[in-house]
Amino acid sequence: AIERTLSIIKPDAVAKNVIGQIYARFEGAGLKVIAAKMAHLSEREAGEFYAVHKERPFFKDLVSFMTSGPVMIQCLEGEGAIAKNRELMGATDPKKADKGTIRADFAESIDANAVHGSDAAETAAVEIAFFFPGMNVYSR
Ligand code: CMP
Repeated sequence: AIERTLSIIKPDAVAKNVIGQIYARFEGAGLKVIAAKMAHLSEREAGEFYAVHKERPFFKDLVSFMTSGPVMIQCLEGEGAIAKNRELMGATDPKKADKGTIRADFAESIDANAVHGSDAAETAAVEIAFFFPGMNVYSR
């Protein structure tokens, strides 16, 4: 099915000047950028976006990293977009990410791991609505 997913190019990858290289991977895999914006997230925005991780030990570091510099936020659309984007990203920990994935090629650590991508249809809808509230998002 044609799906939409929320993608964030994190401060480490923006600072490395690889937005274009990461976009090329999305496009090469048939994912279309249908909305995009650059933003420097506030603590409140980052904390709200990652609210599901609030009780995790890494939450504070996560919010501090995600507010450390600008991020590039996009909605991607395509056939099986959620899983396809996760394949392109590779494992959360770049040390465990398959060769040729975005995280293997551009990320340094589990915190500075270059990209975020929605993990399921439900979270994709919530995450897209969070950053692009004007978009019409339907679960089906
Ligand atoms: P992301 O996909 O953006 O979702 C939450 C982020 O928390 C994750 O990528 C990692 O960058 C970060 N993180 C740090 N430590 C962990 C951990 N132990 N497990 C999962 N995510 C972690």
